[in-house]
Amino acid sequence: MKRGYFITGTDTGVGKTLVAGGLAAIYKSRGINVGVMKPIATGCKKVQNTLISDDTIFLKHAAEVNDEYELINPVSLEQPLAPIIAARMSNTKIDLEKVHSAFDTLFERHDALFVEGIGGLLVPIDEYYFIIDMANELELPLIVVCRNILGTINHTLLTVSYARQHGLDIKGIIVNESIETPDDTLKKTNIDELKRLTDLPILGIIPFDKRLDTRNFNKEVVLKIFRDKINKDIII
Ligand SMILES: Nc1ncnc2c1ncn2[C@@H]1O[C@H](COP(=O)(O)OP(=O)(O)OP(=O)(O)O)[C@@H](O)[C@H]1O
Ligand SMILES: [Mg+2]
Repeated sequence: MKRGYFITGTDTGVGKTLVAGGLAAIYKSRGINVGVMKPIATGCKKVQNTLISDDTIFLKHAAEVNDEYELINPVSLEQPLAPIIAARMSNTKIDLEKVHSAFDTLFERHDALFVEGIGGLLVPIDEYYFIIDMANELELPLIVVCRNILGTINHTLLTVSYARQHGLDIKGIIVNESIETPDDTLKKTNIDELKRLTDLPILGIIPFDKRLDTRNFNKEVVLKIFRDKINKDIII
């Protein structure tokens, strides 16, 4: 059975890469033919004249796939800016055909696919084309990753209500403590309010743990924490 999720977030740096890679690693460890994709990456580094994104490398390692780099990350831009601006600065336009054709190939090759967005839903890709439009065209349900800090309720409700207004299917929310927050009352009440106000399942609550640093992928640690903290419902 074909399955996939589009991993979006309330903001940049909330833990989309960690979550997409962690979920892919769990699927892989269960013998599922899983693939990963980062359609557009900015802030890429030049390695032997090719632009490479850290997110793509993490996702590729986590899912242990042999797919060509250009399929996993068809659009790579150098400037660490929103895609439309990074593209302008490189005198190019983002090639959405390339994204769709890479997606189709990966979707064909794999039984499940995790696609990581870039930033949040209203990140501009073209003049009037945003990440939410891409998620809509790829027809995958969303998983929304949010932080667990003061402000999370507002950011998450805005994301969820905007996605719903645009008719997107939302599988649920993953609360990821990407910033260490010692206030247990804040953390617990955030989660209770998110459940009450969105009526969505909380698919997982990932604690802050220095060993989850995506720049230093530790498969055993990621697998252990994700197995313990992610709702079995999203694991096929
Ligand atoms: N639960 C956690 N515990 C510790 N560090 C974390 C946790 N979640 C994320 N991080 C760290 O926070 C940083 C941001 O996480 P990540 O790269 O997954 O976010 P992102 O939403 O994918 O960001 P971007 O918008 O740049 O793609 C990374 O350095 C990652 O290692
Ligand atoms: Mg990322």
